[in-house]
Amino acid sequence: MEWLYKQPVEVVFGVNKLAEIAQILQEKGYQNGLLVSDPWFVQSGLAAQIINDSKGCIKACFDHVTPNPTVEEVDECAQIIREKGYEFVVALGGGSALDCAKAAAVVALSDKDTRAFHSGGEKLPSEGIPIVAIPTTAGTGSEVTCISVLTDTKKSFKAPLASPLFFPKMAIIDPVVTLTVPPYVTACTGLDVLSHALEGYWSKNHQPVCDALAIYAADLVFKYLPRLYEKIDDLEARTKLCEASVIAGMAFWQPKTTGSHACSFPLTNIYHIPHGEACAFTLDAFIRINAEAEGGRVHELARKCGFEDAYSMADKVLEMKRTMGMKTTLEEAEIELGTLDALVEGSMHPNMLNNPVEMSRDDIKRMYLNLGK
Ligand SMILES: NC(=O)c1ccc[n+]([C@@H]2O[C@H](COP(=O)([O-])OP(=O)(O)OC[C@H]3O[C@@H](n4cnc5c(N)ncnc54)[C@H](O)[C@@H]3O)[C@@H](O)[C@H]2O)c1
Ligand SMILES: [Zn+2]
Repeated sequence: MEWLYKQPVEVVFGVNKLAEIAQILQEKGYQNGLLVSDPWFVQSGLAAQIINDSKGCIKACFDHVTPNPTVEEVDECAQIIREKGYEFVVALGGGSALDCAKAAAVVALSDKDTRAFHSGGEKLPSEGIPIVAIPTTAGTGSEVTCISVLTDTKKSFKAPLASPLFFPKMAIIDPVVTLTVPPYVTACTGLDVLSHALEGYWSKNHQPVCDALAIYAADLVFKYLPRLYEKIDDLEARTKLCEASVIAGMAFWQPKTTGSHACSFPLTNIYHIPHGEACAFTLDAFIRINAEAEGGRVHELARKCGFEDAYSMADKVLEMKRTMGMKTTLEEAEIELGTLDALVEGSMHPNMLNNPVEMSRDDIKRMYLNLGK
């Protein structure tokens, strides 16, 4: 077996690490930067605090990234970077703010719009400005991936865009900033972490380093997500979830995601289900479907996480979803049977080809109809 493992992002991790932002930026020689964030961080005061703590290194804030950022938002942010000549970006937020900043940092160095790269087949520029990522959810792992997931509302198209230039130069992971994540978002994002770990592990492109990272991250989610949901200000559980998130990011970006993420794109696009909940919607089903693939590897992961087999791990995922108020059936998601064919079609996203068990349109339809049963 041949494999390659790469991870170019420098990661600093720790409670209250953000207090060191000025020193971190100064050591890198970064002096004229733009903060990219979403409106919640303006309201909460964290954006202003970070600008202040940066001791002049960060000059302003692009503050209106929305969940599932659009190609137009990236264009707007890139235009500001171009006009003001910013030399680096600091991305503060969940996956949405991170992905918008990552794409803008590269699109800013071209004269084309983001759509040209996202769906138009154009090659991204060969240069970008440096990115520093501060994830505030645990989460997407976007701080250690070369992926930016963008939505084109005009084309009703949500898809990842990838470039080595999207790798942040540095990720600053401070679990304290995740303390304010509300319970529902904590559940969604925590299950996204689990999806990354499991999908990175069973992807057709899996490899030993990512396998080890995936098992470690999945085990942490099973141990700490139910506990965190019970006690939402538990800093130790928050810290462990942040650890799981960044490690799951390292586990999936190379093998790439599979069935559950492929299905998540139309679930978010058509039915507006947030990313993590959309991934979790089919995760227990894919655990069962993939259980027998490749010599029982999924059973092996399940046993390493303390389950009897993959089926009992799938039961646990379904139980966690129910406890945390996630949608578990088509009825709960208000998906009408008349629209199911469009959902199935959208689920035939290229990532479905990474799933270890080949899925036909009929298989996917049957899976959707049997969810939660
Ligand atoms: N680039 C990647 O590798 C990658 C991987 C998986 C998913 N994604 C993408 O990331 C996006 C989802 O990101 P997400 O799940 O982190 O959610 P998000 O960034 O969309 O944030 C969800 C909500 O939580 C709020 N929030 C975030 N942090 C908070 C905090 N600390 N306190 C209070 N509120 C907070 C935000 O303001 C927002 O309203 C999707 O577009 C998804 O497709 C990217
Ligand atoms: Zn995800």
